[in-house]
Amino acid sequence: MLGYVTSLPPVPSVRHAPALRDALLAADYTASAISAHLGPTVERALARGEPAAARRACSGTSALETLVRLFLLAEPVATADAEMALDGKGRSSGVLLPDARGVVRAALDLRPYGDGWFVASDLRLPTGALTLEPDAVVGIGSASMTLVTATPRLPVATALDLGTGCGVQALHLAAAGATVTATDTSTRALEMAALTAALSGVEVELLAGNLFEPVAGRLFDQVVANPPFVIGPNRFTYRDSALPADGLTAEVITSAATYLAPGGTATMLGSWLALEGQDWQERVRSWVPPGCDALVLLRELLDPTEHVALWLADGDEALETEAPDGVAEAWLADLESQQAHDICYGLVLLRKLTELSESPRISVLDVRAEPQPPDGVRLRGWLERVTALRTADPRNLRLAKPTGLELHRSFVADADGWEPDGISLRAPGALPAAAEVNDLLVALVKECDPALPLGAVLDLVAAGAGHKHLGDDALPAMVRLAEAGLLVPVA
Ligand SMILES: C[S@@+](CC[C@H](N)C(=O)[O-])C[C@H]1O[C@@H](n2cnc3c(N)ncnc32)[C@H](O)[C@@H]1O
Repeated sequence: MLGYVTSLPPVPSVRHAPALRDALLAADYTASAISAHLGPTVERALARGEPAAARRACSGTSALETLVRLFLLAEPVATADAEMALDGKGRSSGVLLPDARGVVRAALDLRPYGDGWFVASDLRLPTGALTLEPDAVVGIGSASMTLVTATPRLPVATALDLGTGCGVQALHLAAAGATVTATDTSTRALEMAALTAALSGVEVELLAGNLFEPVAGRLFDQVVANPPFVIGPNRFTYRDSALPADGLTAEVITSAATYLAPGGTATMLGSWLALEGQDWQERVRSWVPPGCDALVLLRELLDPTEHVALWLADGDEALETEAPDGVAEAWLADLESQQAHDICYGLVLLRKLTELSESPRISVLDVRAEPQPPDGVRLRGWLERVTALRTADPRNLRLAKPTGLELHRSFVADADGWEPDGISLRAPGALPAAAEVNDLLVALVKECDPALPLGAVLDLVAAGAGHKHLGDDALPAMVRLAEAGLLVPVA
């Protein structure tokens, strides 16, 4: 991207943000007012890239309708209506650009996020009809929301948003009370994030530079990163890894621990290769830095064909990419030369240990089949349980059954009736949500009672089964159930 000259309009200066914020709020340009105006069906259609119904619903000249047409539908609007909706600050602030005579259009996408925040990003047609510019700063996408939802919200003093883009993660970190630093290599992204923060009335320290370089020597209580992890040609700043293969995800995960204060956490999205003949866990597991608890969640696994198609569609790219010797073919050939069997997408949660003497807990889970993707509450639960489990001799643990714990037995039909096929435990909030168990573990879980140390529970069941060592053999499995939250350590 060296020497690339953008054709995108300049990002409006933050100087005008307070006046614009007042105008946007006065117009009731909030997420809930827009939802109420459009209704759920039209709102869902717009989210699917079908703007026709929203256009009809916003054909009036109220300030709210005008702002939706400008900033969410990317439509030209009569200058007088647009300036009225923005209290006369539209063109002077740079958020409106002249279009035809007497008509203006938006210079950027400016969308309410909740009822007091506004997120600035480059404008995309709702239909995705135009290829994205390489240096475009994209708005809140599905990866952004995955990270927003999965980040454990902890009481922290300092937080870092690595690769801030439109600045959405920084808003959430600030809302949790942290002093927030946000970094990006893209000057345009930093300008957009500054505008997002200023329009939302939030303070964020913004620093330019590669990955952690701008915060060298500093420590944070919480780090979040939705870095450009897409494995393939480096064409879009917002998403494509600038390092070969999965090098960027590796770099972010291995480096994160250096910038974490003791007890600090990092929640990071990433992507890695499963090479021919290799287990999907292998590469990501090798990147977990020493001195950290780690929870790795596999969220998606695509074969190279699916991977390339997904990301070509994401950039709204034209059909030429599929032409002979086009981008798609070159991309697939490159993945083949790297012996990529699958491309894994996931999330890594790290927690820096507070004492050198502590032994880290590393869990690598495939959560693709879970009914709900793991959220921050479940990740926080995992962190809390790992702490509780570390501090005790396992036989002294007191374990309770979590509320809503379920035992499931499955059977398959055979010629004689029903053949037992598996036993599992499930609990709301557990991570993983369910685990396969056997009859011995079912008996042990049944006897778990916070009044009894686990050792006593094991001895009790072992004695009942007439097998002295039976319980001890099951000890590691009971600890794993407690780590998952299918049992709960009680102080
Ligand atoms: C996928 S976007 C994430 C934006 C935002 N944090 C979110 O969650 O929606 C990745 C961001 O990382 C930035 N970026 C790309 N390469 C980077 C690097 N080497 N160091 C820091 N940031 C980088 C991009 O400019 C882009 O803003």
